[in-house]
This record gives sequence, structure tokens and C-alpha cells, in this order.
Amino acid sequence: MAKSSFSSRAGLIAATVGSAVGLGNIWRFPAEVHEGGGAVFLFLYIICIALLGIPVMMAEFSLGRAGHSDAVGAFRNIAPRSRWWIFGALAVLTSYLILCYYMVVAGWTLEYLYESLTGNLFAGIVPGNIEEGFSAKMETYISSDWTPLLFTWILILLNAAVLIGGVNAGIERISRLLMPLLFILLVTLAIVALSMPGAGEGLQYFFAPDFSKISPGLIVNVLGQAFFSLSLGMGILVTYSAYFPKSTNLGSTSVTISGLDLLVAVMMGVIIFPAVATFGLDSADIRGTTLVFVTLPEVFAMLPGSNVWAILFFTLLLVAALTSTISIAEVSVAFVHDRFHKSRRTAVAIVLLPLFLFSSLCSLSFGSLSDIKIFGLSFFNLLDTVTTNYLLPIVSLGICLFIGWFAPKGLFRRELQGSRSSASLPDRIVMAIVRYIAPLLILTILISGI
Ligand code: PHE
Repeated sequence: MAKSSFSSRAGLIAATVGSAVGLGNIWRFPAEVHEGGGAVFLFLYIICIALLGIPVMMAEFSLGRAGHSDAVGAFRNIAPRSRWWIFGALAVLTSYLILCYYMVVAGWTLEYLYESLTGNLFAGIVPGNIEEGFSAKMETYISSDWTPLLFTWILILLNAAVLIGGVNAGIERISRLLMPLLFILLVTLAIVALSMPGAGEGLQYFFAPDFSKISPGLIVNVLGQAFFSLSLGMGILVTYSAYFPKSTNLGSTSVTISGLDLLVAVMMGVIIFPAVATFGLDSADIRGTTLVFVTLPEVFAMLPGSNVWAILFFTLLLVAALTSTISIAEVSVAFVHDRFHKSRRTAVAIVLLPLFLFSSLCSLSFGSLSDIKIFGLSFFNLLDTVTTNYLLPIVSLGICLFIGWFAPKGLFRRELQGSRSSASLPDRIVMAIVRYIAPLLILTILISGI
């Protein structure tokens, strides 16, 4: 069976950026920057992306393109008699666990879009109790049993529809359609935010450097955010790069993807802080679910044309979440398809059908099952903690060690240099980082997480 391949550079970039741009950019990044000392965090983040994120991304791409298979097959094709494929198996496991709970969050974004379209989101919200009103709504929307389940299931079906289409007619086509839309929405919202009276104050608040925040803990946060945001350590980049043509320059592709991911994250801050400052909202409310489901709806409620803004924003959120779930589901789909020689249709069914149970459990862990705790955490939080704090760094570490030290000599260099006759200076620097610096830093993240 010939392996599919992305048909254009634009399609390949759109799909990969679609994976990278997700809730990490939208609801995690702005709060991390604010709490991490504004420009200080941003500066460290950019250094970390350049020195670590991009090289590790290039290592994942090299593994995927040279291995030319799913995340497990890539290791096996390159080193048939070794046990390195175990890291590939861990990547499949990690991505599947993330998929279970990410699908639920993606479902919430659809539910909010639906509520904005029907106008229900703003029904019963009166001046004086706006914040309580939206908090109560979030409580109802997320912690009831049936409605979030229904929207999670719709998201699973949407994923199935795209994934069955395959690499070109499914993933590439939807990404080329949705990613430009995402950028248009972002620019529109940024223009509105920047024309608000509190824009200057908000930006000042977002960017003002606070050097007292510099600490070892901050560096760990920076690294963790960078890895999550670039979709590293999940097997996604290995899986997608198996669909890269040989002519794709891995260096410039990694720089483009990381740059666009950073751009979206910064733009989210530029949207959120002016809005929050203009309406004098509490900056404690810029984190996670509260930011997108309470604070921003508060802003929309105070703007003329509330519904329009809510619809635009939740469309943006849904696009970001959907393209990320597709990429992470594709890791398992490719695994079942390549490893067990199943048709795409069967592979999609094998991967997505169990989610009707697993994602439902995650969803219910906010509702009827909220009393069930494992190690003191709900089902949802348990999956989140185990994957981001432990599994992601372990998989990334394995990939760096494998590509840097154990893969056949010259493989990494050949993938990086492409059709050029020798490796450039940046290529050599990347190779040194993947061999020495990246494993040490990743190990540090891992140990500090424990
Ligand atoms: N990079 C994504 C984000 O920022 C992370 C992610 C990708 C999570 C795919 C799940 C699935 O949100």
C-alpha cells in the first residue's frame, strides 16, 4: 500500500499548524505570559522555541519522514531489531489518552457556538449579575450530563468524517479551508480589541516585564508550554511527516510552523488583555475555562452586537480544537491502518468508537461521576496530568535520544540537508542540540514534574 502524501506545501503547513494551534495557544498561553512576568516570559519562550522547540520538531520530522510509517512503524523501519519502537507505542498511548479528554473540551466549544447561534448564551444575563450569570451557565453547560455528551459525540462524528476522507481529501482539505478562516477571525478580533479604550493599558499589562518572576520553576513552565503548544511528544509530528514529500525542507518548515503558532498565541494575548482592561474585569479570571467561557462572554455581553462576537470567537475556538483533535486522532488511525493493515474506514472506527465510552467518562467526570476520584483527581484531570507532566516529556526524550544517538549514522543529517550537498551550520547546531542539550533539558522538566 503506497503511503499518502500531502499534495502541496500550503496543505502540509496548514495541517501541521492546525495541529499546533489549539487550546494551548488560546486559553493557556495568555495566562502563562501574564503570570510569568509578561515580556520576561515571552522572551524566554521565544528563546526556548528557537533553541529547543524547533530542533526537537526537526528530530520528530526526520524520524517520521525517514521511518515513513506510523509512530511505531517509524522506529521499527529505522531500527528493526531494537526495542526503540516502545517509545512509538508510548506516543500512540499518550496521544490516545489526550484525545479522550480533548474531545470533551472540543465538544464544549461546539456547545458554546450553538448557544451563541441560538442566542441562549445571553438569555437571562442582566447588568449587575453578568459574571455570576455566565459562571452559572458554564456550570450548567459543562456539569450537566446529557448536553455535553451529545456535543462530544457530534465532535467524534465530525472527526470521523474528516479522517475517513484520508490525508488529502480529509485532513489536508479541511485544514486548507479552516486555517485561513482562523487567521481572519483572529485578525478581526484583534482589530476590535486594539480599538477599545483600554487597549494601551491592556497591552502594558500583557507585556510589561517583571524580572522578579525569573526562577527555575518559570523555566519549567516555559518549556512545558512550548512542548504542548508545538504538539511535541505526542507522535503527531512523526505521523504527519510520514506524509511529507522528500523535497520538503524540514528546517524552514519547522521555523514556519513554530512562528505561526507563536503568532497565534501572541495575538490571543493582544485580544484578551485590552478587552479585560477595557471592562475592568478581574485579571484572576484569565485562566483556562473561566477565560473563554465566563470572562470573554462578559466582554461580548458589554459590546454592541454581543451575539456576533460570541459566534466569531466560538467559531475560532472550534476550528482550533477540531484541527487539533483530528491530528491527534490520526496518530492512532495511522497506527491501526499501517500496523494491522486495516482499511482507513475500519481504522477510523476502531480508534473512534471506544471514545463514545472513554470521552463520555471524561465528560461525566464534571457531572454525575464527579465524586469518583483516582489519586485524588477526576478522570479528566488524571488524564491531563499524566500525559502533560510525564508522558509527553518521556516520548520527546526517547525521540531525541533515538535520532541523536541510536539511529543509523547520517540519517538525521541526510533528512536535514535534503538535496544540498552538505549540512549547513544551522543543521549542525540542530544536531548538537538534539544530542546533548535537548535530552538534558527534557530530563529536567521530567524530574521537576515529579
Ligand atoms: N498544540 C496543541 C494546543 O496548543 C496541543 C494539542 C494538539 C493537544 C493536538 C491535543 C491535540 O492545544
